[in-house]
Parts: sequence; structure tokens; C-alpha cells
Amino acid sequence: MTDLFSCRNPIFTLPKHSDKLCIPIQKWEFLCHTLYLKKYPFLLGPKGCGKSSVAKELADAMGMEYHAFNMGQAFKPKKMFVGSLIIGEDGKTLAVRSEFFRAFVSDRPTLIFLDELTRTPAVAANFLMTVLDRHQSYLYDEDSGQRYNKGRNVLFIAAGNTGFAYVSAQRLDTAFEDRFIKTRLDYLSPREESALICSRIDGVARKDAVRLAEIARILRLGEAKETLSVSLSTRQVLDAAAYLPLGYSLQDVVEEIILTNYMLSGEEVLARALLQGI
Ligand SMILES: Nc1ncnc2c1ncn2[C@@H]1O[C@H](COP(=O)(O)OP(=O)(O)OP(=O)(O)O)[C@@H](O)[C@H]1O
Ligand SMILES: [Mg+2]
Repeated sequence: MTDLFSCRNPIFTLPKHSDKLCIPIQKWEFLCHTLYLKKYPFLLGPKGCGKSSVAKELADAMGMEYHAFNMGQAFKPKKMFVGSLIIGEDGKTLAVRSEFFRAFVSDRPTLIFLDELTRTPAVAANFLMTVLDRHQSYLYDEDSGQRYNKGRNVLFIAAGNTGFAYVSAQRLDTAFEDRFIKTRLDYLSPREESALICSRIDGVARKDAVRLAEIARILRLGEAKETLSVSLSTRQVLDAAAYLPLGYSLQDVVEEIILTNYMLSGEEVLARALLQGI
């Protein structure tokens, strides 16, 4: 395991990710270097392209403890970031620290994943502002009137969805964005995606995996050209592929799992038309 934080080991050896993750090597290297420099990566990409998987793999590869939080749910920020007060058996008030708080002040190498950062509610903004300050990162507990500093080896990584369906009216405060090194993650190439299907799901014929990945490519192209407004995630492609070893034909899988992805947006007919002739 690489001791990322040891000053006696200034030469950084690139740690490996597990073979479950598929990511271009340059991207992986850049993300590892970003953490090595104690900067915070912000993974930006379409739904289901592997953002959460990358965050967890980075923590594992760098030998860091990992804690994930969905910022879109931070409607009670004090409870989430600091904790709450309870009355103990002896009638005294007791501070119960949240998981976030314990991770934040930890003296062990720790990676805190701020998922859905672009959906952080405005009420949580003040907490995040001090938490993400690179020079003086702290949490303020208004009950005790105390500041708690971030552990020296505690780093953050964030993720946010990009794409048509996610252009929200409430854009993230640019002051937050400024604290991160933005990194784009994309869907895999058809070759990578078909290889991922075969490695993740036993019993899928290689030719079916290749065709499924090609179908995904065409539908994503449809989204890029704005013919479709919904993207097709790697998660959905893997979900679809899981039915193949049970005897479903590729056509069944496309009808039942891939095209139904476009039902809610009313684009099923359009999507089917894009797949004509393949
Ligand atoms: N690049 C990839 N390599 C390996 N598996 C992947 C990759 N992309 C997606 N997957 C698989 O697809 C599923 C969804 O991935 P993950 O949750 O990491 O995506 P996400 O970008 O965080 O999704 P969301 O936008 O919904 O938060 C997981 O089962 C994951 O293993
Ligand atoms: Mg995710």
C-alpha cells in the first residue's frame, strides 16, 4: 500500500485500481496525482458513468478510509455536518457527533466523497464554505461555540452529474467550484464497454456484448445531437446485459430494458428509429 502522506517517501508510485473499474490510465493517474497534491477532485460526468465507483476505488488504492455523503440530502446541515444533542440517562445534554464530523476530524488518511455536490441545498452552503477552505478548513459547532479543524490527511472528492437533464436552475456557487480540480468522466468507448460487460457478467456471448455496446453508442450519439434528451448509463447497459445469460435475446433486452429508458420522456419511438437497421 502506498504511503501517500509520508514525507519520507516523496516519490509517488501510482497505485492500481481493481480490475472492476474501467478508466483511461491517464485519467486515473491524474486523479491520483490530484489527491497526492492534497487537492480535491470534482468528477463531472453523465449519470451512471462510474463517478461513485472511481471515488471508492481511489480511496482503496490510496489506502484511505472512505465516507460518502449525498449533498443533495443536506437539508439539515447541522445534523449532517456536526451532529445533534441528546439527553443522556443522567439528564445531561450529550453531543452525538455525525459520521461526517468524525471523518472530518479523523487523524487517519480519509477521503470524504461529496456526491451530488451540484445539488447542495442553499442551507448547507455556509458549512461547506468553511469545510472546503483549503488553508483553514474547519467546522463550527454553534452549541459549544468551538471550531474543529480538519484532520491533516483528510481530503475531499466531489461528483456532479452533467447532461441535458441536469442543467438545474440552481447552479452551484462558483466559490465552491473554485476549490476543486474539475475532471471530466465520460461513458466508455464501445470496446471498453463490451469488455466490461464480458468481465462483469458471466455467460454473455462476446458478439452480444459488442452489439449492446454499439447500441449504447448510437443512443448516446442521439443524445449528443439533442435528438434524445435522456442518456443511457453504463449501469443500464450492465443491467440489460444481465438478462442475456438467462436466455433473453438481444432484441428482447433492447425492447424491455434499453428502449423503456426513453418511456418517461416520450422518446421511445425516436430511440427505436435510431436503432433501425442495426
Ligand atoms: N467506468 C466504469 N467501470 C466499471 N464499472 C462502471 C463504470 N461506469 C459505470 N460502472 C458500473 O455502473 C454502475 C454505476 O456506476 P456508478 O454508481 O459508479 O456511476 P455514477 O456515475 O456514480 O452514477 P450516478 O450518476 O447515478 O451517481 C455500477 O455498477 C458500476 O460498477
Ligand atoms: Mg454516483
